Amino acid sequence: MAGPRIVRKVKALRAAVAGWRRRRARIALVPTMGALHLGHLSLVRLAGRRADRVVVSIFVNPAQFAPHEDFATYPRTWTTDIAKLAAAGTDLVFAPTVAEVYPEGFATRIAPEGPAQAGLEDRFRPHFFGGVATVVAKLLIEAMPDIAVFGEKDYQQLQVVKRLARDLDLPVKIVGGQTVREQDGLALSSRNVYLSPDERRRAPTLIRVLGESAKAIKAGEPIESVLARGRSAITAAGFALDYLEARHAETLKPIASAKDGPIRLLVAAKLGATRLIDNLGV
Ligand code: PAJ
Repeated sequence: MAGPRIVRKVKALRAAVAGWRRRRARIALVPTMGALHLGHLSLVRLAGRRADRVVVSIFVNPAQFAPHEDFATYPRTWTTDIAKLAAAGTDLVFAPTVAEVYPEGFATRIAPEGPAQAGLEDRFRPHFFGGVATVVAKLLIEAMPDIAVFGEKDYQQLQVVKRLARDLDLPVKIVGGQTVREQDGLALSSRNVYLSPDERRRAPTLIRVLGESAKAIKAGEPIESVLARGRSAITAAGFALDYLEARHAETLKPIASAKDGPIRLLVAAKLGATRLIDNLGV
């Protein structure tokens, strides 16, 4: 298939989308930061099944990186990204510059609450969801898609975006796409390239512990004892654990027993310098 059209300006994005809309096309948006892998591409294909036109945004959003995080070194793989998007079925790539998204004088920031203050990612990356919510709100308003697709891989982000769309009355359906994994279960992530061979071998511990914990909770074992065992296993594998928690699948509020579900298990841990996250439904 022909490559996607590449657009750098909000005005050009709006004009392209308006043209499709006049012809009654259903439009999907898939926001990304590039460095695309099969996880991202599964979202693009899902978008293509649900809509007539697929817009993918590629923007490494400085507002969601803390000063000590990897904004400057975040992998940027433009040429292969575009080739992959062409193969997956993308009509338009919106790739604005930082100055286009945050022009001089930009002074508005969305402050998400609820699932954005669940004490999970927000506890370790306090600026993160404010930055995500601000850029996602802008992208949704600019593209005005019928649906927008986000991965379950970033489960708290997915819940934050669902809440954001509802609370701001944005006429868009937020769709979650399943996590794509390596053969050994490791969730695909643009940051997996940072893992040393030894770290890469140990990385699937996270999904293994999530799977065993889900099974034990389903079998009726008390949640806290399951989590305590899981935390020990993760630490024993050489991770520095940030959290392993069982939460309500939508609100992300703490859950005392399985009957208060649906439950989602969420984990974040560092392996050397690389921080990995994953999650699983019970
Ligand atoms: P990024 O990390 O590039 O991820 C883009 C989308 O791909 C997100 O919705 C993420 O959940 C999804 N994704 C990542 N790994 C996946 C996997 N293994 N399987 C399925 N989906 C996966 O998330 C962001 O960018 C940014 O925060 C963004 C939403 C673009 C705002 O800047």
